[in-house]
Amino acid sequence: MKPTDPGAHPQADEREDGAWRTTRREFLAYSAVGTGVAVGLPGGAAAAPAASELRGPGEVAITLRVNGGRRRVSVLPSTSLAEALRDRLGLTGTKVGCDRGACSACTVLLDGMPVSSCLTFALDVGDREVTTIEGLARGAALHPVQEAFIAHDALQCGFCTPGMVMSCAALLAHNPSPTLDDVKAAVAGNACRCGTYPKVFEAVLAAAGQGLTRK
Ligand code: FES
Ligand code: FES
Repeated sequence: MKPTDPGAHPQADEREDGAWRTTRREFLAYSAVGTGVAVGLPGGAAAAPAASELRGPGEVAITLRVNGGRRRVSVLPSTSLAEALRDRLGLTGTKVGCDRGACSACTVLLDGMPVSSCLTFALDVGDREVTTIEGLARGAALHPVQEAFIAHDALQCGFCTPGMVMSCAALLAHNPSPTLDDVKAAVAGNACRCGTYPKVFEAVLAAAGQGLTRK
């Protein structure tokens, strides 16, 4: 199929070797539009979605449960949760680094579980509670992990920090007495180009009420 064929992927490009090239954003933009619907790429198999699952291809109005409130927002089927939070709802505390699931800067919690919001479709969130860095504090009282990051200088440029804090907060919510190895595992996907990891480990163990000697 050539790009000029009716129904062809409009932005798919054919390489000199005859293979098809499709960027991630094009993949998202032309993905099938229902939750969990398989996608047909050139040369690939596509599962036909049930008609009741189809939403889009234009904007769809949804309600997201975010930080204890309900927020109405219109999104495209290709809109990531990170885009919905930042560009539609103004919650810019969530950072986008790689936009492809490699750095975890965009980590938010879905029903308490850390996820990469750049890899999560806003339409797929459903009724799950989204917690962003803006929703971690309780009024003027910062979350213990936030307090500990400040006390232990666990940040430099700060770009990775919201995602790092969310991963650490999720760890303590599920494991209030983590070992150092638990902390390392919890932030294994959180890339910090400033190299603040030792301070992050220190801060999280301090927030858990223990020192760095615990293994
Ligand atoms: S921005 Fe989402 S993982 Fe890097
Ligand atoms: S503090 Fe700069 S990237 Fe982590």
